[in-house]
Amino acid sequence: MSKIKESRKIGILHREEGPMPDRLIEEINKKAIEGIRAEICKIPEIHPAESCEYTIIIDRASHCLPFLREYVKNALLSGCYIINNPYRFEPDKFFDYTVAKRMGINLPRTVLLPTKSYRVEPCYRPIEQEDLLNLSYPLKWDEIASYIGFPAVIKPALGVGWKHLTIVNNLEELIRAYDRSGHQIMILQEKIEYEHFVRTFVLGKKYVCPIKYIPSRRDYICDHKHLSRELGKYIVETSIKLCKTLDYDMNIVEWAIRDGIPYAIDFTDLVPDANPRSITYFYYEWFIEHMTKVALEYALHPPKPRCWHTLNNLIGKVSDNP
Ligand SMILES: Nc1ncnc2c1ncn2[C@@H]1O[C@H](COP(=O)(O)OP(=O)(O)O)[C@@H](O)[C@H]1O
Ligand SMILES: [Mg+2]
Repeated sequence: MSKIKESRKIGILHREEGPMPDRLIEEINKKAIEGIRAEICKIPEIHPAESCEYTIIIDRASHCLPFLREYVKNALLSGCYIINNPYRFEPDKFFDYTVAKRMGINLPRTVLLPTKSYRVEPCYRPIEQEDLLNLSYPLKWDEIASYIGFPAVIKPALGVGWKHLTIVNNLEELIRAYDRSGHQIMILQEKIEYEHFVRTFVLGKKYVCPIKYIPSRRDYICDHKHLSRELGKYIVETSIKLCKTLDYDMNIVEWAIRDGIPYAIDFTDLVPDANPRSITYFYYEWFIEHMTKVALEYALHPPKPRCWHTLNNLIGKVSDNP
């Protein structure tokens, strides 16, 4: 890698998550590229339009600490490149399914259900029945169920970590799960009865590692021959395409394979688990090596930050982006 004169700092925002952040900093600094240093960010109060000392920030915390989201949005304005784009850093599953579907990627049959009940807090007065005029009730459960089929998965559109996810086997179970969902926006989805499941790290929209995974045990299996050449190629290429389109620099794309056909299940995992105790030391080393590369490549040649465009702008511009 080339040398640069001016100082470029790489900052890391993280929560307690095992050895990864310290090790990543160590590896970046070990490369001893003149002018480039990595460190943990320390943030005091934020002044509007203040300039940011970092060229790159790897953000693994602002989804939990909203103050940090304000920090990175401010940093973005001063020319810092944020991994991941703060304007795309939401567990925005249904939107991402929509983008994937427009890209021609196989998805389970999916619908987004109107919410069972409504939050009171964001409104200046409680939501009443007459506030729901735009919603078409009652839902035609028979039609919905016959489109999706059983077994099905009902899960929050803004969900993470399997929270509030239920597998339902008939209409009665479906309605019971829906009734429990409260004000969450729920996705109902055909359950793919897969023979194989793959979690695919995608870093810097180009470094890809598809890992064999057993969801029921949350188990990463170290196996380098678990995909045929053709399936491996499809998963690698399509996972990159998805991350480029959705503007995710650090992500996991999950694939369920049924009868040899891969279905995209979840590709909105913007703080992918990087703890060696769960992802195994083999994949931990892979993560450190490739996250180091991304951080250094981006520090040397900062990509142009992409704010969020319309869908039509995004699709078709994929190849122009890093
Ligand atoms: N449509 C589906 N078919 C089969 N399994 C699914 C489906 N949706 C979710 N799952 C299983 O549930 C897990 C969690 O669902 P996911 O959509 O990834 O939500 P989260 O954001 O909570 O990880 C997935 O990793 C997968 O194992
Ligand atoms: Mg998931």
